[in-house]
Amino acid sequence: MTRFLFIGGGNMAQAVIGGLCQAGTSADAIHVVEPADATRQLLAERFGVAASEAPTEAGSAAAQVVVWAVKPQTYPAAAASLGGRLAKALHLSVMAGIRSDALARDTGSERVVRAMPNTPALIGRGIAGLYARPAVDAADRALVSRVLAATGAVVWVGEEDQLDAVTALSGSGPAYVFYFAEALVAAGVRMGLDAAAARQLVLATFSGAAALAEARAEPLAVLREQVTSKGGTTFAALESMRADAVAEAISRAAEAAGRRAAELGRAAA
Ligand SMILES: NC(=O)c1ccc[n+]([C@@H]2O[C@H](COP(=O)([O-])OP(=O)(O)OC[C@H]3O[C@@H](n4cnc5c(N)ncnc54)[C@H](OP(=O)(O)O)[C@@H]3O)[C@@H](O)[C@H]2O)c1
Repeated sequence: MTRFLFIGGGNMAQAVIGGLCQAGTSADAIHVVEPADATRQLLAERFGVAASEAPTEAGSAAAQVVVWAVKPQTYPAAAASLGGRLAKALHLSVMAGIRSDALARDTGSERVVRAMPNTPALIGRGIAGLYARPAVDAADRALVSRVLAATGAVVWVGEEDQLDAVTALSGSGPAYVFYFAEALVAAGVRMGLDAAAARQLVLATFSGAAALAEARAEPLAVLREQVTSKGGTTFAALESMRADAVAEAISRAAEAAGRRAAELGRAAA
């Protein structure tokens, strides 16, 4: 039985713990360090896992996999409270911006995997970019993939810096989708739809189009061309977007997110 220690028992930790329990991990194999009384109570009620306000000797000594799920700004205090007692464990961090060098240094373990998840993980529809330090072997990678399976899909990247691009696409991406969807709903209302109908039309269009693209092998550009007959309605919309340089604006926005992710990573190092 693999023994897990979670540092932080908030939203992201609960998504992972819920998935582990559903996949058959015994609640006895999971210990959570969580300072908030209400959250500890919720963890006990919902999952039956043991939670303590501060790290315990027993919980730390037994841990084979440590999942770091505190906010990046509370990481230094959390790491200090562990005092390097977890040097033999595999460490999986979902914290934005904390570099694997810092985790390896603070934990004394080279077996560190960094994940950049996104919020749909909370309903099992997320996608996480993963980076493993060289000391992480195939068995560790498989274990991490299993741990995160219930939160959605995973994509491994070869360089840690690529996690900044992952942040720019999928980490921050749900907000871009909401932004685009908000604008479309507002346009629908201006054209006479009621807001609830417009919201339903727009959200189903996003999920349906994404599902269609996943089901087909054609490049995205080909799928777009297939629904764009010259002189038609879609053509009119795409010509308008072209004239407004929307593609370039989206590219600049994603690059701004990537630069910010890199800056935050440097600041936390
Ligand atoms: N939510 C997402 O979709 C998402 C997406 C990508 C990345 N992430 C990353 O995932 C991490 C966790 O995010 P979250 O949304 O799960 O945050 P969250 O709900 O705020 O959970 C963090 C938990 O850690 C607890 N905590 C604070 N200091 C601690 C310490 N010293 N030791 C142990 N636990 C401590 C907090 O307790 P208090 O409330 O008492 O402070 C809180 O319950 C963050 O680093 C974030 O960047 C999250």
